[in-house]
Amino acid sequence: MSSQKFLIVGKSRLKGTVKINGSKNATLPILAATLLCSETATVKDLPNLHDVNTMKDVLTYLGARVNREGRKMIVDSSEVQSLEISEDLMRRMRASNLVLGPLLARFGYVKISYPGGCNIGSRPMNLHLKGLQAMGAVITEKFGYITAETPFGLQGTEIHLDMPSVGATENLMMAAALADGITTIRNAAKEPEIVDLQSFLVSMGAKISGAGTDTIRIEGVQALKGTEHTVIPDRIEAGTYMVAAAITNGDITLTNVIPVHLDAVIAKLREAGVQVTVNEDTIRVQGVERPKAVDIKTMPYPGFPTDMQPQFLALMSIAEGTSIISETIFENRFKHVAELRRMGADIRLEGNTAIVRGVPGLTGAYVEASDLRAGAALTLAAMAAEDGTVLDGIEHIDRGYERMEKKYNPLGARIIRVNS
Ligand code: EPZ
Repeated sequence: MSSQKFLIVGKSRLKGTVKINGSKNATLPILAATLLCSETATVKDLPNLHDVNTMKDVLTYLGARVNREGRKMIVDSSEVQSLEISEDLMRRMRASNLVLGPLLARFGYVKISYPGGCNIGSRPMNLHLKGLQAMGAVITEKFGYITAETPFGLQGTEIHLDMPSVGATENLMMAAALADGITTIRNAAKEPEIVDLQSFLVSMGAKISGAGTDTIRIEGVQALKGTEHTVIPDRIEAGTYMVAAAITNGDITLTNVIPVHLDAVIAKLREAGVQVTVNEDTIRVQGVERPKAVDIKTMPYPGFPTDMQPQFLALMSIAEGTSIISETIFENRFKHVAELRRMGADIRLEGNTAIVRGVPGLTGAYVEASDLRAGAALTLAAMAAEDGTVLDGIEHIDRGYERMEKKYNPLGARIIRVNS
């Protein structure tokens, strides 16, 4: 992938209305779940993202027939031949590990290369594997590969997650859907994307209830059938626009959004003095000259989302006062801090806490994105900063945001994508 850059002219004030895309983090597990049935499943309102294309490549690599028609993907997993995911695919996207549960449940065997860490932390899979073992899977980890097999099929059981891992909850829900008997997942993740996965699985005939709470109950069935499903809107894309309005003292209305999914972000923006008007499926955000400093602690849903921490930290870097931002989910998710400092931010790191002393304004600089949300945060900061910014590493941004310049420039941003 050729590395490209954004040239961003600062001091924009974003104004207008924008429609939110389908959720990346709902789409990825749902596409993996299409492996659970041998009939055709149609998933609609998909975002056009690198990560979604990677999941399409994973399904195709396994032998599924995948047709993409605009924002719709039609998957026929009746002819799956391979049960192994190549190293290259696993390295391209960690969420490829979401095929573990479905392949194990339907075929009794799966082999993936260890996804390894990424820029925000080590991201182990111990909770995924422990849960599958509890259901009877035999797991072997050797030479960087994980092999899972079920000589006697998967058995329903009681699983208590040490922490509410989103991916582990999703893999175990999918595995349990075809297991023999009842599985209860306690301390389950409660994210909206888990609820959307449950909706998808139930529409295929799975017997699942409790998603959105900390206890999910799954009664295994013999087989699942094809279905059609529209994914929920992307709450993190929405939150990113909300911070964009706040940091540029703009005025943006979001449509195709589920406000309740953003309760924590709305509360913090209001605490910072930003005006947020919520209607049934729209949110309007009007910025202020200078936001007030507020403290943030990232928590599992419905707490403040870790995926919004970099964007909010960028906002706090120009706030009035000092804010304390604690990252409790990932151990290495402050790579955007050094880049924001280059733009004039005054931030001190103490372990997993950032002490952000707000400055009146930022100035453009040459900065680099290290991961998806850090890249988004730097783009927002550059829109608000004086002068121009060169942002490198935007391939990270393209993984989770659909050609950011195409959606932000009509609102008044001035982003130019250049090949370096
Ligand atoms: C999902 O990642 C999201 N990705 C992440 O979004 C999101 O930040 C994260 O959930 C938390 O909300 C997708 O949905 C594709 P976790 P996931 O398992 O499932 C530790 C983005 O920007 N852990 O809830 O990998 C782990 O190391 C991405 O869109 C274990 O220790 O997150 C992390 O510290 C980034 N053992 C914490 O739990 C395990 O077996 C949360 O991880 C699994 C996880």
